Amino acid sequence: MTGLRMTVAVAAMVAGLAATGVASAHETLDLTAPKPNLAATPPMGWNSWNKFACNIDEGKVRAVADAMASTGMKDAGYQYIVIDDCWQTERAADGTIQADPVKFPSGIKALADYVHSKGLKFGLYSDAGVKTCGGRPGSAGYEFHDARTYASWGVDFLKYDWCYTGPRNAEAAYTIMAKALRASGRDILLSICEWGDNKPRDWAAKAGHQWRTTGDIRDSWDIDEGYSHSFTWILDRQADLWKDSGPNQWNDPDMLEVGNGGMTAIEYKAHFSLWAMLAAPLIAGNDLSAMDQETHDILTNKDVIAVDQDVLGQQGRRLIDDGDFEVWVRPLAGGDRAVVLFNRSAAAKVMSVDWETLQLPAEMKATVKDLWSKQVTKKVKGRYSAEVPSHGAVMVRITPTV
Ligand code: GLA
Repeated sequence: MTGLRMTVAVAAMVAGLAATGVASAHETLDLTAPKPNLAATPPMGWNSWNKFACNIDEGKVRAVADAMASTGMKDAGYQYIVIDDCWQTERAADGTIQADPVKFPSGIKALADYVHSKGLKFGLYSDAGVKTCGGRPGSAGYEFHDARTYASWGVDFLKYDWCYTGPRNAEAAYTIMAKALRASGRDILLSICEWGDNKPRDWAAKAGHQWRTTGDIRDSWDIDEGYSHSFTWILDRQADLWKDSGPNQWNDPDMLEVGNGGMTAIEYKAHFSLWAMLAAPLIAGNDLSAMDQETHDILTNKDVIAVDQDVLGQQGRRLIDDGDFEVWVRPLAGGDRAVVLFNRSAAAKVMSVDWETLQLPAEMKATVKDLWSKQVTKKVKGRYSAEVPSHGAVMVRITPTV
């Protein structure tokens, strides 16, 4: 049955149900709706959680939207302003989810309109369980109702979490929300936040545009506690996932911590460089309305962002893992390679990558651009070497020449 026929048939059925007084929550469901093409390259934006957690309100969201538009972040490609957990309180008598009237007195639609007026897109958070991780109402059983509400508010992006799901099957739960979003009448990107526990690599690409591969990131080089993991711990769990990723189906190693204060500028540059190598969604997690110049310059490095957003959409791999010394490589459209030399040790180290590792002929000359210092070296033959600071990354773009 075609989508149109299905809609007509369902509409007739709903009319019949209405005549007998039976309401249906599924009247707009189109089972054949394809996944909308909303993430040909990894999504870029901002999310409230890493900086503000539950301490979020409409004033902060507006200030961040203003900053994204005025600081060059929007020009660099950042687009989504996403409110994470704790914007909700309870459901109205008719089941409609409601924003906290104290923290969001103007309502979510007004906030989405404001974000849209800045030329940006707007995102919200919910959960496949009965409650969100922060204890607010989840969407279990209300998927279609919530998706329609989000569409009516102008939501463009939904982060959908996995707390309080009990024995629910993850694939089924995320598929229901995917169907609900596709039937909502609005294009809404689905960001799956299931933490990688139920093999999302086997099913998540059908439902969503990106999926988390681990528990939560914390703003730390190497401190891990419970479900909260350091940048390096998360990075180690991405090295084998490159085959799963591609346009509209990105591995999500969690949001950025750049600028939140727990790491050095060198460590933040490594974090940002490696997330770009992973073709990760680049979702800033700092307070954009109060960031310093160094944070701004890391987050808006256009050469690094160009690697993340490369249209080939092939995730980078760790080709050399020599204890503290790693070489990551990402093939780019047109034949260039992005390379990161990553030094986890306590001292600076001269590191190198040879052309064989990059699958280039040994005698080939290449142009190498350092994406942080911006230095360009021409006619490099055989290998590229650079001194890499402790806990740092040297990131280069290698262009073969004839
Ligand atoms: C989970 C998610 C986080 C964040 C919180 C909100 O821990 O993984 O990214 O959304 O819930 O409560």
